[in-house]
Amino acid sequence: NFTEVPLAPPDAILNLSTLYKADTFVRKVDLGVGAYRDNNGKPWVLPVVRKAETIVFEAQPEHEYLPIGGNKSFTEAASKLLLGSDSRALQDNRVVSFQTISGTGANFLGATFLHRFYPKGTKVLLSNPTWANHKNIFTSAGFEIQDYCYYNPKTLGLDLDGMLTSLRNAPSRSIVVLHACAHNPTGVDPTPEQWKEIANVMQEKNHFPFFDCAYQGFASGDLDRDAFAIRYFVERGFELSIAQSFAKNLGLYGERVGCYHVVAHSAQLAQHVQSQVARASRAIISNPPLYGARIADTVLNSPELLAEWKEHLIAMSGRIMAMRSELRDQLVQLGTPGNWDHIVNQIGMFSFTGLNSNQVEVMKNKHHIYMTSNGRISMAGLSTGNVEYVAQAIDDVVRH
Ligand code: LMR
Repeated sequence: NFTEVPLAPPDAILNLSTLYKADTFVRKVDLGVGAYRDNNGKPWVLPVVRKAETIVFEAQPEHEYLPIGGNKSFTEAASKLLLGSDSRALQDNRVVSFQTISGTGANFLGATFLHRFYPKGTKVLLSNPTWANHKNIFTSAGFEIQDYCYYNPKTLGLDLDGMLTSLRNAPSRSIVVLHACAHNPTGVDPTPEQWKEIANVMQEKNHFPFFDCAYQGFASGDLDRDAFAIRYFVERGFELSIAQSFAKNLGLYGERVGCYHVVAHSAQLAQHVQSQVARASRAIISNPPLYGARIADTVLNSPELLAEWKEHLIAMSGRIMAMRSELRDQLVQLGTPGNWDHIVNQIGMFSFTGLNSNQVEVMKNKHHIYMTSNGRISMAGLSTGNVEYVAQAIDDVVRH
C-alpha cells in the first residue's frame, strides 16, 4: 500500500500558475512560468502558427503513427536551425535527430540513452543555479548530479573562473548540461570568448556537452546568433547532445514540440546511436505526436513563413528588452537601493532580480506578484500596464 509514499512538494514553477489563477486580486501579476505574453498580458498565438494550422487543416492529413524518430522533414529542419544549413556534421550524416515531447522530453530521452552507455557513477553536472526540472530529469534517469559554479551573486554576472574550476575538478568524462543561450534562470550567458575557454576545459577533461536549447531566438532575436555556442562546440569536434524546444520560440507550449539531437564522430557511430535512442524513445513514448510537429514542419520548411517567424522573434525579444529598460528605469527613478543595471544586461526570457526567498514571499503575499523563490522573474509577464506596479512592489520589499 501507499503508507510509505511521502507527500512531494508542489512544482517550483508550474504551481505558481495555479496560485496566480486562484488569486482574485485585480492587479495580480504573473511573473512565474517562462511563457510569452503580449503587452495586454495575453498569450500570443504567432500569426505564422495560425497560417500553418490552416495549411495543415486544408491538407486533411491522416492520423497514422509517425515513425519512432518522428516527422523527418521537421526534425531535419530543426537540426539545420541549430547547426546551420551548411553544417559539416549534417553533410557527413553524423547527426541523429529524434522528435520529442518538447524540451523536457528531449532532456529525458537524452538522459535515458546516455545512462545506458555511460559507466556507473558518471556525474551529470548542472549549473548553479539551473532550471528546476533539470535535477528531476537527470536523477529520474538514474544519474548522480553535481553542481558547477555559474552565477556570481556579488557581480550578478557569470563566475567564469568558478565555472572553469568546477569543470576541472569534476571527474573526467562527466556529462555537462550547458544552456545554449538565454540561461534559465539567470539570463546570464557566456560571451563567445568565454565559451572558448569553457570548450578548452571540456576538451581537456573529456567532458560530454549536453546543450539545452529552449530559447533560440529569444536571447538576441536572431536564430543563428543564438546557436553560436552549439555550432562552435560542433566545429571544435565534440560529440554532443542537444535538447531543443519549440515551446517558446514558436509559442507551441501545449503541443510539446521538440527534438533530441546527437552529433557523433562518424556516420557509422551515428547509426548505432540512432538505433539505441530509438529503443529508448519506443519505451518512453513509442512514437511522438503529430499535430505540433506538422505546424513546426510547415513553418520551418516554407521560406515565407520562416521569414515571417523571424519577424515574430524580433517582436517578442524586442518587447522583452523594452520591458527590461522600463523596469530598470522605474527602479532608478524610485531610488530603490541597489544597482539595477543587471536587469538590462541579462538576456532572454528571465531576469534574476537578486530578491531573496523572503522578499519573494512578500511579493506574493502582500503584492500578489508571482515569481520563483530564487528571485527569477519572467520578463514576458511585464507590460506597460503593470511595470510601474511591479517596480513599486520591488522597491517596497527591498526597503523593508
Ligand atoms: C520555465 O522555466 O518557466 C519554463 O521552462 C517552463 C517549465 O516547464 O518549467
